Amino acid sequence: MSGHVTGTYQSAARVREMFGRVAPRYDFLNHLLSMNIDRLWRHAVAREFRDILSRPGARALDLCCGTGDLTLTLEESGPLEVIGADFCHPMLVLAQEKLKRKSGFVEADALQLPFADASFDLVTIAFGYRNLADYPGGLREMLRLLRPGGRLGILEASHVTGILGPAYRFYLSEVLPRIGALISGDAMAYGYFAKTVERFPEADELAEDMRAAGFSDVRYRRFTFGIAALHSGTRVAG
Ligand SMILES: C[S@@+](CC[C@H](N)C(=O)[O-])C[C@H]1O[C@@H](n2cnc3c(N)ncnc32)[C@H](O)[C@@H]1O
Repeated sequence: MSGHVTGTYQSAARVREMFGRVAPRYDFLNHLLSMNIDRLWRHAVAREFRDILSRPGARALDLCCGTGDLTLTLEESGPLEVIGADFCHPMLVLAQEKLKRKSGFVEADALQLPFADASFDLVTIAFGYRNLADYPGGLREMLRLLRPGGRLGILEASHVTGILGPAYRFYLSEVLPRIGALISGDAMAYGYFAKTVERFPEADELAEDMRAAGFSDVRYRRFTFGIAALHSGTRVAG
């Protein structure tokens, strides 16, 4: 299968440990550094999948849920049960504190989840896919978990092109790590963020990887000059 396997830099243990360190400041910095636009992107994910979210009895899984922002946005959008999964315990403790209705959180690796095949109607992953140690393996696991006709949504940082590209890359490599370091006290974590965004495949390449993994009806939408993109795909029925 074609696909982008990430480098050893993104060893699962390092990623987990790094998110554990930034967890207490994660939400605050997220909203500050994106000027709250990240909230609009999460609502756009909920709108994209509103058909599934409004279906009684449907089940959704939000992978790499972190402090649970997308999990809760999905939950607020319909009657369905949403499960958030993440392998970083301190992030899940914060997610648990925000718990409202029937969402639940599970501590698990997105590459090997403790759920039976075809358990969910919707699988989402927001700003987590980039961190996976094995992209094709991650897509295989997402496909396995979806029921026939079920949908996948990948919200991820993307590439800003055109005249704004150089300014955004300067912001990513020079400004964001400094603000991140100042507030979180962790220079490495926010430098890592800039590096993973730069290394991440272009939107077309990710769409190609999704098709190669077996998803059909693969599309993507760019948000905010391409700072983020939402890819979606369907597990074919049958
Ligand atoms: C940038 S945060 C995103 C959190 C949340 N989805 C959001 O939109 O704010 C990435 C999260 O992915 C989690 N993560 C990274 N690799 C993972 C893996 N292999 N399995 C489970 N969680 C993982 C990290 O622990 C972290 O909480």
